[in-house]
Formats: sequence, C-alpha cells, structure tokens
Amino acid sequence: MARPNKAPENGVGYNTCLSFQHHMIRAIKGTRDIFPPEVQKWQFVERKAREICSLYGYEEIRTPQFESTELFARGIGEITDIVTKQMFTFPVSGESVTLRPEGTAPVVRAFVEHGIDNESSITKWYYIGSMFRHERPQKGRYWQFSQFGIEVLGTENPAVDAEVIELLVRYIESAGAENLDLRLNSVGCKACRPVYTAKLQEILRGRQMEMCADCQVRIEKNPLRVLDCKVEKDQPIIDQLPAIDDYLCPECRSHFDTVQGFLHTSEIPYTRDKRLVRGLDYYTKTTFEVLLPGLGAQNSVAGGGRYDGLVEELGGKPTKAIGFALGLDRLVLAIPDRSTEASGVKIFIVSMSDQSFDFAYNHVQSVLRKAGISCEVDYQRRSVKAAMRQADKRKVEWVILIGDDEVLDGKVTLKHMKTGEQERYAIEEVVRKLL
Ligand code: HAM
Repeated sequence: MARPNKAPENGVGYNTCLSFQHHMIRAIKGTRDIFPPEVQKWQFVERKAREICSLYGYEEIRTPQFESTELFARGIGEITDIVTKQMFTFPVSGESVTLRPEGTAPVVRAFVEHGIDNESSITKWYYIGSMFRHERPQKGRYWQFSQFGIEVLGTENPAVDAEVIELLVRYIESAGAENLDLRLNSVGCKACRPVYTAKLQEILRGRQMEMCADCQVRIEKNPLRVLDCKVEKDQPIIDQLPAIDDYLCPECRSHFDTVQGFLHTSEIPYTRDKRLVRGLDYYTKTTFEVLLPGLGAQNSVAGGGRYDGLVEELGGKPTKAIGFALGLDRLVLAIPDRSTEASGVKIFIVSMSDQSFDFAYNHVQSVLRKAGISCEVDYQRRSVKAAMRQADKRKVEWVILIGDDEVLDGKVTLKHMKTGEQERYAIEEVVRKLL
C-alpha cells in the first residue's frame, strides 16, 4: 500500500488521505515517548526540583509554550545559533510565533507585562517544562526537551549568584549524579566587554582566513563566540587570545571576586573557564555551566548566568537578574536507574471465580482505595498462576486472593509476596494492618 510520507499541501485532504490507510504513525524525529521505568526517573528529578526550590524560597511560574517570535529574537539575540537556525517558527493569525527555545525571555516578558518590575521586592521563580530547538538530534539533544530553571530578578548582590549556583549544584547532587564539573567565568558588562571584543576582533581579523567558516562570520558579528569554537585547527589561535580578566572593569572584577568568595565559603568547587561565553547574548558578568561525565558530546547539563540588561531590553524598568536552566533529559541520562523503587500499586487482587470477582471489585478494591491503600484487581483473570506472575512482575508487596470460600466468609486471603506468608482477614483488618 502506498504510504504518504508528506503532508498534503496546505493540510487539505488529510481525511480522505488517511481514512483508508492504516499504516503506523511514528513520533516526529527529535521527539520521544517516555515509558516506565524511565518515567520514574523523571518523576524523581521533577520532585527533587520542587523540593529544593521550596527549600530556597522559589515559587513556580508557568508561561505559554509559544510566544511572539520577536521576544526571542530581541531577548536571545538576532545573530545567535538559536535564533538564526533552531527555532520552530510559524505564522498564526498574521503574527509570527515561535515554540519557546528557552525559558528566560518568556519569564522576563511575564515579569514586565504584569508590572512586577515596579515592585521593590526580589522575585524568585522556577519553572519545569518543554522547550523546542531544531538541532541535529543525537543522544542528549532533541527537538523537544525539558528544562528545570530558576530566575532571580531584582538584585545585583553577588551572594545571589552564589546562591543560584549552590542550588544548582545541590540539586544535581540530590538527583544522584556524580562527578559534576562546574565551570565559572565572567563575561563583563556593557561598559567593559566592548573593549575586550574590539581587541579580540583586532587580533582575529589578522588570522581570519586560517579559521573555520563559522568563526570567520563570528569575528565580524560576535567575536566573543569565537572562544566557544570547538574546531580543532582553530584552537592554537584561540589559545593565544587574551583572557577577559585583564579587561574587566573594577565593578565586574569586584563582583566576580565576591561571587568566588561566597562559593569558597559554601565549599562549592569549580573550574575557572576563561573561554566560557555561552550561546545566548543576554549574559553579563557571571556565567556558569555544569558538565557531567558519561553524556558523550552533549555533556553540558546546565548553564546560566547574570542578565542585568534583559528586563530593560524587553521594555521593563532596569532590573538586575540571574538564573540557570538545566536539561532534564540529560540529567535523567546521567543518573542511576530507579526502577527498583516501588511505583505501582501496593496490592494486586486476584479472584478465582465470577462471584469472587464481583466481591473483589465491589467490596475489596473500593474499600482499600477509600482507605488510601493503592490496589488493583486482576482484570485478565487467566489463572492464579498467571496472576501471581503478574503480581511478581509489577513488584507489588501484597496479593489478596479471593475464592468462593472467602466470599462466603466475608474474608480475604492476604499474602506477602517476599515472605510467602498468608492469612485470612476481614477486609477491615487488612486496612488496619496495612495503613
Ligand atoms: P542553555 O545553555 O541554552 O541555557 O540551555 C540549558 C540546558 O538545556 C543545557 O545545558 C542543556 O542541558 C539543555 N538543552 C539545551 N538544548 C537542548 C536540546 N536540544 N536537547 C536537550 N537538552 C537541551 C538556557 O536555556 C538559558 N535560558 C539558561 C538561563 C536561565 N540563563 C539564565 N537563566
């Protein structure tokens, strides 16, 4: 049977085209389904994120999954890879909209739109949600992925930079990932960075023809990004470039020194990475990234930094801010399996006849659930042996067996799966025993 692999022009004809062709429909490239037991790891990392946020006083914010394209173009930067190559953009009612490639610009948009920039207090928000980037899919890199991020708006106190980094490190540790490598840098501010980038440009223009095609463009458009180049033949040239340290203004230098002081006090080890510039244009002063071993090419699990000019750039009052985002897909790849954790129901209820099935459904399952004890009747009803195999597979702690005798007695047989011990009880006794 012919298999249409292309959507009909303008979407017209879908119904007629698909109504008689029962071919399998696959998930879109760069997206994936998450099944148990992997989903247990997701629930775990999401729970840990919420826990640590409440410990540090962050509240959740939820923003839409798509926004005006202009928000990202202006927020992230017109000439960044994200904006030039990776956005899912489409027209809706005459407006260009984009599936959010990241969460910071939307959070700042909400902050400004709702006038929170007029308040004098500090805003501490976190988010967990899907982001979308059209990059070449590979392990740890998807078109749709999930981020956990935090943003603190309303303070330039360097202690907050340290708090944000500390929260990130403690979170990754609490999720069970080991050997994290925290990289730290300062990219200066709008007063001192232009002097540095002009110097880079001056040096690099002399070597332009020896460098990769991307760097040749970067030298003219965004020389700082040359520092991020991974192409082998460019490395000797990049290694000889001056570090930003000699160009930081006194304010940026003192801010950076203080952040490092706080990190030492909190005993958070880091590597100073003078080439860490990040792929989004909004950063000022502190930038950081966390790498994890075992992730292959996509080993950067989280990144963030200060963005002291973004609120103003997006139409708000001058507001200093900092945050990070962590790729949950990558974190989940890096942490141990959690499938041994009990996740399903506590009790599997097996009936041995029609009469006992009705009793199990109406009088056992409902009573247990009302008491808050998770349970499930065996709907397949093949044989007791098959039911016990099911119970074993689902790692339930207990099985309740109900035959005609039990129904007459108004009792059930409760069996412990690990010890094999079993005894007859009235259902109320089971509730008392298991609560
Ligand atoms: P980012 O470095 O672009 O920063 O992304 C943060 C993390 O998202 C990355 O370290 C990575 O783990 C994950 N990530 C990015 N792209 C993909 C992908 N295609 N597939 C899977 N995971 C991916 C930001 O997004 C900034 N908004 C962070 C920030 C918040 N800065 C200040 N506040």
